[in-house]
Amino acid sequence: MRFAVALCVLALFVATLALDNGLMRTPPMGWLAWERFRCDIDCQNDPKNCISEVLFRDMADRLAEDGWRELGYVYVNIDDCWASKDRDSNGRLQADPKRFPSGIPNLASYIHDRGLKLGIYGDMGTFTCGGYPGTPLDKITIDAQTFADWKVDMLKFDGCYSNATEQEQGYPAMSKALNATGRPIGYSCSWPAYQGGLPPKVNYTQLGEICNLWRNYGDIEDSWNSVLSIADWFFNNQDVLQPAAGPGRWNDPDMLVVGDFGLSMDQSRSQMALWAIMAAPLFMSNDLRTISSGARTILQNKVAIGINQDPMGVQGRRLIKLNLNEKSGIEVFWRPLSDKASALVFFSRRTDMPYRYQASLGQLNYTTGSYKIYDVFAEREMPTLKDSTNFVVSINPSGVVMWYISAPADQENTHIGGKLRGPAFHRHANGISPIVL
Ligand code: GLA
Repeated sequence: MRFAVALCVLALFVATLALDNGLMRTPPMGWLAWERFRCDIDCQNDPKNCISEVLFRDMADRLAEDGWRELGYVYVNIDDCWASKDRDSNGRLQADPKRFPSGIPNLASYIHDRGLKLGIYGDMGTFTCGGYPGTPLDKITIDAQTFADWKVDMLKFDGCYSNATEQEQGYPAMSKALNATGRPIGYSCSWPAYQGGLPPKVNYTQLGEICNLWRNYGDIEDSWNSVLSIADWFFNNQDVLQPAAGPGRWNDPDMLVVGDFGLSMDQSRSQMALWAIMAAPLFMSNDLRTISSGARTILQNKVAIGINQDPMGVQGRRLIKLNLNEKSGIEVFWRPLSDKASALVFFSRRTDMPYRYQASLGQLNYTTGSYKIYDVFAEREMPTLKDSTNFVVSINPSGVVMWYISAPADQENTHIGGKLRGPAFHRHANGISPIVL
């Protein structure tokens, strides 16, 4: 009961703080060009892969026809290098005429006709990071209106070629300008990534009021090192970042690189699992025309997506961190979900062989009771588990085991983390008082 009241208060709090455009009550999902296709503008020699309307139409076709859209992957997002180097005679941004001969409005209707949404990229500054025209302060109103006129559904607003003072004015100004167009446009702010990602420079309360999502940290690359360093940064700073997220306002650890070249299948499951725990936006940056069936199965896992998209919108945390007392090489992550459910991820940092990790739900802070367990990637129900029963999970090197855990309807509370921000929970989450197995 107390938990329910706390949740209602939390929900009200969140409702007043989030950007008031009603969008992205769960983390946005879709496809984003950057990591996989970068600034390839060589359409003469590389027509299938260059940044052009062909690429975005191809991806829209795949999202619509290969089962992605139904799972929630609805955004088709253009990143840098789409624009002409010059604004038009009215001072408006325009797409590169050679690579987007039909124009952005046309591409938008192609995408909308398939039940999808279009995202575009801009930059709060003189130039984009790739050297294309940016949106300095005096161009914010006209660019917001241009995007709305084109029927764009989301804007990623980068921050190259501007200083801290300009960003402080520009990011809130763009939020206002987008709202003023009357078109609901999801707003992704790269601002905190340019401020180092942490308070006191970053004000997460303000970000929640003006942006739907924000890049907190550096760019992802197609490698396990990159994925791991990003996950580490987010979980090392979870005390600051976790409370900042909620419906309509999300931390963004950057794109999913599952389906590219750098991750093994185990590492791909790890990225999917950790991004689901983090309530991260799920923007794939891969080639949906040639993706392997293994990668597709991971990205289309319904329960992993369901965990990511949980309507309560509470970001998860690392419960057990590797430290002097915890030498197994296994870390454990947890996320509370609606209907008293939760998710656990057992993640191996080992590089030797599958590790048999032993624990009980009680040791992982679950309260007295018996729980139904579903193994998300093995796609099977496990035997019901009492909080006191010891279990063993075998976790592959750089891999995960992910569980969806539900409690019987008559069970009152399930996890001491129900008091998410309470001191008892923080002691564990900080790793100051680790659970020794
Ligand atoms: C920055 C962003 C990337 C991408 C590039 C484009 O580095 O963080 O996500 O948008 O710019 O140039």
